Amino acid sequence: MKTQLVGMIWAEAAEGVIGHEGGMPWHLPEDLTYFKKMTADCPVIMGRRTWESLPERFRPLPKRTNVVITSDAGRAASVRSEGALTASSLKEAISLAGQKDPKAHIAWIMGGGRLYAEAMEKDLTDLISITRIDLQTPGDTYAPELGAGWTGVGKVPDRGWNTAENGTRYRFETYRREGRP
Ligand SMILES: NC(=O)c1ccc[n+]([C@@H]2O[C@H](COP(=O)([O-])OP(=O)(O)OC[C@H]3O[C@@H](n4cnc5c(N)ncnc54)[C@H](OP(=O)(O)O)[C@@H]3O)[C@@H](O)[C@H]2O)c1
Repeated sequence: MKTQLVGMIWAEAAEGVIGHEGGMPWHLPEDLTYFKKMTADCPVIMGRRTWESLPERFRPLPKRTNVVITSDAGRAASVRSEGALTASSLKEAISLAGQKDPKAHIAWIMGGGRLYAEAMEKDLTDLISITRIDLQTPGDTYAPELGAGWTGVGKVPDRGWNTAENGTRYRFETYRREGRP
C-alpha cells in the first residue's frame, strides 16, 4: 500500500537541460540549499549515474535514506558498502523508501534523466519541484515534459526571478498532479 507521497525534484536550465557529461553544468549554491531543505529527513531515490555524480564525501546524502537503482549486482554491492540501499527498479525503490521511512511525508526521486522519464511515463509521482535556471548551457540529459494534468502552485503564475549571488537568475516552481491528495 502506498504510504507517502512521491515527488520529483530537479534543477533545469533553458531547453530542459538537467545534466552534461555526468554532472550539472552550473554552480548554484542557492539551489543546493533549497534541495537540502526540501529533502530533509525524507528518503531520496536516485539512478546509479546520479549516485556516481555525487562527490564521494557527500554520499550517502546525510540524514536521509538513500536508495540507488541499478541493474548491476556488482555495482549494487559496492553502493551498499558505501551505506546506501539499492533497488533494481523504480517501483521497488519507492516501496523500500516507504518501508524504511514510513513517517516521512514524501519520498523524493532526485534524478537523473532516466528515472524522471520513467516516473513521468508511469505516472508514479504526486508533485514536482523544479528550480528553473535562466541559463543557456550545453547538455546531454533533459527533464521530462510535464504535459497535461499538472497544476502549478505557489508563485508560478508571477514568473518572477530571484538573482543568485553569482548573478544567475533562478526561481522555484512546484507542480501538483491533479486529482491527488
Ligand atoms: N539537474 C538536476 O536536478 C539533476 C538531478 C540529478 C541528476 N542530474 C544529472 O543527470 C545525469 C544523470 O542522469 P542519467 O539519466 O544519465 O542517469 P540516472 O538516471 O542517474 O541513472 C541511470 C542508471 O540508473 C539505473 N536505472 C535507472 N532506471 C532503472 C530501472 N528502471 N531499472 C534498473 N536500473 C535502472 C541504471 O544503472 P545501471 O547501469 O547500473 O544498471 C542506469 O544506467 C547527470 O548528468 C546528473 O548530473 C541532474
